[in-house]
Amino acid sequence: MRNIYLLASVFLLNQSLFCQDHIHWGSTGDPLNGLTITWHASSLSSTGDQIKWGYTSAYEQGAFDVDHRDDYGGYLFDYTFPTLNANSTIHYNIYTDDEWGHATRTFQTSTDPGSTQFSFIAGGDSRTNMSDWQTAANWLANESTDFHLFLGDHVNSGTSTTDWTYWYNNGVNYLERNLIYHTAGNHEYGSIYLNQFVMPENERWYSFEFGNALFICLLTEEDFSTQYTWLVEQLSTTDKTWKIVFFHKPFFCTGSHVDDMTTYRDTWWQAFDDYGVDVILGGHVHYYLRSKPINLNVSSTAAVAEYGSEPGQGRLQILSGSYGAPVYAPGTGWFIEENLSTMNYTKFEIDGEVLVMNAYNMVGTLIDNVTINKGAANIADGGATVPSEYSLDQNYPNPFNPGTTILYSLPLASKTQLSIYNVSGQLVTTLTNNHHLAGKHSVHWEGTDGSGNPVSAGVYFCRLRAGAYSQTIKMVYLR
Ligand SMILES: [Fe+2]
Repeated sequence: MRNIYLLASVFLLNQSLFCQDHIHWGSTGDPLNGLTITWHASSLSSTGDQIKWGYTSAYEQGAFDVDHRDDYGGYLFDYTFPTLNANSTIHYNIYTDDEWGHATRTFQTSTDPGSTQFSFIAGGDSRTNMSDWQTAANWLANESTDFHLFLGDHVNSGTSTTDWTYWYNNGVNYLERNLIYHTAGNHEYGSIYLNQFVMPENERWYSFEFGNALFICLLTEEDFSTQYTWLVEQLSTTDKTWKIVFFHKPFFCTGSHVDDMTTYRDTWWQAFDDYGVDVILGGHVHYYLRSKPINLNVSSTAAVAEYGSEPGQGRLQILSGSYGAPVYAPGTGWFIEENLSTMNYTKFEIDGEVLVMNAYNMVGTLIDNVTINKGAANIADGGATVPSEYSLDQNYPNPFNPGTTILYSLPLASKTQLSIYNVSGQLVTTLTNNHHLAGKHSVHWEGTDGSGNPVSAGVYFCRLRAGAYSQTIKMVYLR
């Protein structure tokens, strides 16, 4: 009986290999310029593998020969498309193993890389639990963004062909549909990893541009000083609004990996700080964490006041992933704004000078959110001086009866929510829930609930939430 089961398993594995062909997508440049499809086959076709494709199912662009290279258990075939139309569906048909039709599928191209309105997803750490990886991959397959960043630790053992085969097979729905820019994790860096994916430049570290953003991929496994020189060159010569860096091992985290990158704070992180990197993405830790450390101006007791690119502001460091790796519980610390123990991914939407990051678990529940707005940083209501930091002042008068005024300050235009709660923590009323410009704002509360009814005397709390900032004041309503 056991032998029959084993035979069936081997048969199913071979079947799935045969059918799925490890189709995945990379790019030597941006998502439309250098887009490359890669697939696997166990043998060389006698007449050579080909692909035919077009913007319709007639494959009107024609059939094309493709390059091949050795792969574990066979060959990898690459075809790099010419510059593609934005927001289009590519129909393709692969000729391999001496016949057409192994893959007759479609791929959705990204929006125009010249657009300053685009989105991407970041996450990683798919190793170990292939059932969880399949769950994550199936969820991610349904997300529609322009491209993805994979933050490393794809598999447990980068030298294990079995690990890679399971990774491809369980992630097939995601990998076949999405363009992914990869960075290597400590579990896999080596020959198989480097042979699998097509990426820009030397494929170990690289940069690409999309819209008004520069993306920089670094490798946390070797060549730190060479990369530092290259990194500074990249950052010092760009005129992009947004600078986003991604790599596997994070600088500021908790748990066993806390010092993994400490050696490079005076080089890599200093460069992030000096040149105003906006977002720093990492994995490796198997939990979700948002923090805003800066390099040489860190407080030992509190995070800096705000996110931003300027000196003295905090870099937005997001550690995201857990696509199948064991989920760990994060600790807390002065630089940590939010932390959660759950499988997760992060979705970024850039619209001109506004960047919105939403973090989700693998059923699509929002677990964290932050907005950085560069555009309104110097525009205050009425031309007044822009406050240097977020604040919520004590209401006046206090105690009060029946009305009181609440003042708050926004250094950046922010989604702002100001709500009143009773001593039981129940929401009484929301005074504002909207985007507001940078500046000093005041709101008057008449001492009524959301329906306009007078509240009873007692203690109330007013909470301000603006961007990632949150503050609460206590107020007393006297009869
Ligand atoms: Fe790792």
